[in-house]
Parts: sequence; C-alpha cells; structure tokens
Amino acid sequence: MRHMDHSVRMKEMVKEIDRALLEYVRRGKYERLLRAMRHYPEAGGKRMRPVMAMLTAEAVGGRGSAALPFGCALEIIHNFTLVHDDVIDQDPVRRGRPAVHIAFDIPTAIIAGDALFARAYEVLSETDVDGEGLRRLVRIVSDTVFQLAEGQQMDVDNEERAEVSRQEYLEMVEKKTAVLFACTAEGGAIIGRGTEEQISSMKEYARLLGIGFQIWDDVLGILGDAKKTGKPVGSDIRNGKRTLIVVDALERLQGDPRREVLAAALGNAEASEEEVREAVRLLEDIGSIKHARQFALDYARRAKDLLSCLSDSLEKDMLREMVDYAVGREL
Ligand code: IPE
Ligand code: IPE
Ligand code: MG
Ligand code: MG
Repeated sequence: MRHMDHSVRMKEMVKEIDRALLEYVRRGKYERLLRAMRHYPEAGGKRMRPVMAMLTAEAVGGRGSAALPFGCALEIIHNFTLVHDDVIDQDPVRRGRPAVHIAFDIPTAIIAGDALFARAYEVLSETDVDGEGLRRLVRIVSDTVFQLAEGQQMDVDNEERAEVSRQEYLEMVEKKTAVLFACTAEGGAIIGRGTEEQISSMKEYARLLGIGFQIWDDVLGILGDAKKTGKPVGSDIRNGKRTLIVVDALERLQGDPRREVLAAALGNAEASEEEVREAVRLLEDIGSIKHARQFALDYARRAKDLLSCLSDSLEKDMLREMVDYAVGREL
C-alpha cells in the first residue's frame, strides 16, 4: 500500500515536471530550431534529475515545487548533453527515437544543444530564492557543466588508450555523470533551506548514486534490451568505450589468449553481431559483468547510508527507492 502511494506521488511529480519542462522549451520563434530542441524532452526520459531536486527540497523541510524550475533547468542541461553526446558517440537512437543529429543534421544538433544550454540558465534565473541563494546555484551549476565537459573529453580520449586504470575510470564517470546528480541534490537542499550538513550529505548521496547509476547503465548497454533502454545495445563495445566492465576485463585477460576475442570487437566499428556477441560472452565468462554489478551495488548501499541526515518522511523513503531504481533497473 505504501509503495502504491509512492508510485502515485511519483507519477504526479513527473506530470508536473513534464508540463513545466515542455513549456520552457516552447519559447522561441525559429520553428526548426525549436523542434530540434524539443525532440528529446518530448520523447520522454526518466526525469530522474528534476524528481531528485524536488524530493530533496522537501526532504530537508522545504517545498518541492520551489525546486521545480531548478530541476527543469538541470533536465534541460541533461538533454543538451545528450544531444551532443549522441553526436560524439555517433549513436543514432535515443529514447526509442532517431537521435537529433539523425532526425535533423549535425549542425542543427550542435546549435540545438547550445540553445538548450542557454535556456537552462534562463529557467534557473526563475528559481524562487534570494540573491545569495541564486548566486550559489549559478556557481554550482556552472562548475558542474564544466566538469561534465571534462568527463566527456576523458571518455573520448580513453577510447584511444590501451590502459585505463580504475581510478581514471572512476574520475571520468564522476565527472560525466555523477556531478550532475550531485548538483541536483545539493541545489534541492539549498532551495529547501536544509542545514549545511544536510546540503553536503545530500550532495554526496547523489554523487555516489550517480557513479553507481552510470556503471549500471553500462551493464544495460551490454546486456539490456534496446526496446526497454531506448538505446542501441553493443555500441559501447564497437566504440571502444573503457567502461568498468572493459577496464576489469583487460586486467583479467593479461597474457590470456582469449584477449583476442575482446580485441576483435572492442573499438571496431565494423565488428559483426557475432563478434560483439562473442566478446560479451567472454565478459560474462570471466566475471567482469558480475564485478561491475557488484561494484555499482556497493555505491548504492553507501548512497543510502547518507540519508540518515534526514528525518523520516515519505520523500526520504522515495530518495531511498531512487537508489534502487538507478542501480538495479531491470536488464
Ligand atoms: C542517460 O541518462 C545518460 C547517462 C548518464 C547514462 P538517463 O538514463 O537519465 O537518461 P533519460 O533522461 O532517462 O533518457
Ligand atoms: C553519459 O554518457 C553522460 C552524458 C551524456 C554526459 P554515455 O554516452 O555513457 O550515455 P548513453 O549511454 O549515451 O546514454
Ligand atoms: Mg552516449
Ligand atoms: Mg558518451
């Protein structure tokens, strides 16, 4: 019964977020650019970032709706990075639809991403906080997007490197994915006027969740069902992405002739379905996928521990459930 309440509440929040978000990406006069900007927001998505911003604001004692513009600003930033990410990764499908650079073209995808980024700051400026609060939000959002750019660059550069250490991998994932979650929860707690201890604990909660989430997402990118994820399966392998699974496998396969099976598919854009399947089978056989799943679940457990800074509430329970959703989503 309690779970039922949560899912009803979640659906209501997502509806409220969708209404505001789609309105924010309607402003403008040039129709083709607007259509490209709206392409991903209209296709859906889990809306994890705005949901987290609103839940955090309430969990520290504030109003969730006060964090709605902030959450939408971060969702718009997230969508901007996805538009560019699909160009970078040359992925043709997102949220079950043709990617923006396929439905339109690469120049339009670049411009639409930039336009979304600008719109995000406009939306951020509409947050109902005092001047000092807004300055703080602008600072954390700017710092976050800068780190996100560093993470994306590391991800790209790692594709060409023979050896990527676990530490380098974790730094990349923290930057490309976790900092945006951290900013979400930190900002939500600032808007909800939480204590400084709560603000930093919520930031850390979301950072750990974000790292676990990306590792899990990489597992889904290998074993998942494209119909459920809305993204192509196996493209990380063909792109030579140094995911934790691959970093672990390259360590385990040192001096092992089976390394060739992985090498045939990894970073080979022309790899056949069979070659990718063989590589995935090897990753399963040597335990690298299991290792990544356990690693992600460990981050999830640590994230949940940080929620002890909050008093008991429905929102606290929902933040706990978000961890299980982010890390542990169905394959
Ligand atoms: C996709 O994020 C990019 C990653 C950080 C793995 P989400 O999985 O949150 O994407 P949507 O918004 O639900 O489509
Ligand atoms: C996720 O990148 C992080 C950003 C988009 C900034 P990925 O390339 O790992 O995510 P998917 O698999 O395309 O969603
Ligand atoms: Mg990608
Ligand atoms: Mg990428």
